[in-house]
Amino acid sequence: MEPAEGSHLDALAYLECALGLLGSVLLKLVRSAYGRYASPRPACGVPARAAWALQELPSLAVPLWVCARTAAERLRHAPNRVLLAMFLVHYAQRSLIFPLLIRGGKPMPLYTCTLAFTFCVYNGYLQSRYLSQYAVYADDWVTDPRFLVGFCLWLVGMLINIHSDHILRNLRKPGETGYKIPRGGLFEYVTAANYFGEVVEWCGYALASWSIQGGAFAAFTFCILVSRAQQHHQWYLEKFEDYPKFRKIIIPFLL
Ligand SMILES: NC(=O)c1ccc[n+]([C@@H]2O[C@H](COP(=O)([O-])OP(=O)(O)OC[C@H]3O[C@@H](n4cnc5c(N)ncnc54)[C@H](OP(=O)(O)O)[C@@H]3O)[C@@H](O)[C@H]2O)c1
Repeated sequence: MEPAEGSHLDALAYLECALGLLGSVLLKLVRSAYGRYASPRPACGVPARAAWALQELPSLAVPLWVCARTAAERLRHAPNRVLLAMFLVHYAQRSLIFPLLIRGGKPMPLYTCTLAFTFCVYNGYLQSRYLSQYAVYADDWVTDPRFLVGFCLWLVGMLINIHSDHILRNLRKPGETGYKIPRGGLFEYVTAANYFGEVVEWCGYALASWSIQGGAFAAFTFCILVSRAQQHHQWYLEKFEDYPKFRKIIIPFLL
């Protein structure tokens, strides 16, 4: 790889952090316009299943393209392969399985879908290019405590995320589109248990990858999902008089 590319990938990571901060400021001013906040009939709405599949697919396709069209020299090393696999496993679930399971999802405004698609291209390129061409780990990195703890957090976070999305989905009977108070799992402690899982997952990935690129993705996810979780929390408190007042927003016992 070109020596300049390392600093180029670092710059892209810092920009991703800045975009996360900007996103969280914007989300304080306007609600993210999808799901419960979307207009019932947006002028340019993409059906929910198609929108989620299309917008998340670049996080799977771009890394595969990056690895196929270059020598991907660093992927000869086990730590790089495992880290890239962690990223791909999440996005295989998110782009190929999650959309098929959605029940009664609202149409996604085209601009929201385009923004998410653009982010997935950007971040898919950043993570995969870094891991396949640039990241240097000792071959025994997979036994380093940072990797082991990070991997466990990633796995636990993903399971919490999938389980919590499952609870939300099952609040609706087939054909229903309304909202109910989620119960069970980590929803007993926080409003946004699915977002908590996702934040834990990418913090684990960041720790295991011990890189600015992994840290930037975790920071971006934290900024966006904490803001959206705050909106959901407020929305539940306003909509349901009997909403459990002791529930935190996103982090059990803390926030
Ligand atoms: N990494 C990132 O930056 C990032 C950003 C955004 C999302 N995500 C992930 O993508 C997934 C989906 O995100 P999201 O923002 O769509 O999550 P969400 O607002 O919690 O909604 C998830 C699904 O459950 C339904 N739902 C939510 N609350 C419900 C309730 N009280 N009663 C009945 N149905 C309910 C929603 O239906 P409606 O669509 O009809 O509201 C939607 O289909 C999550 O796992 C999240 O972690 C990641």
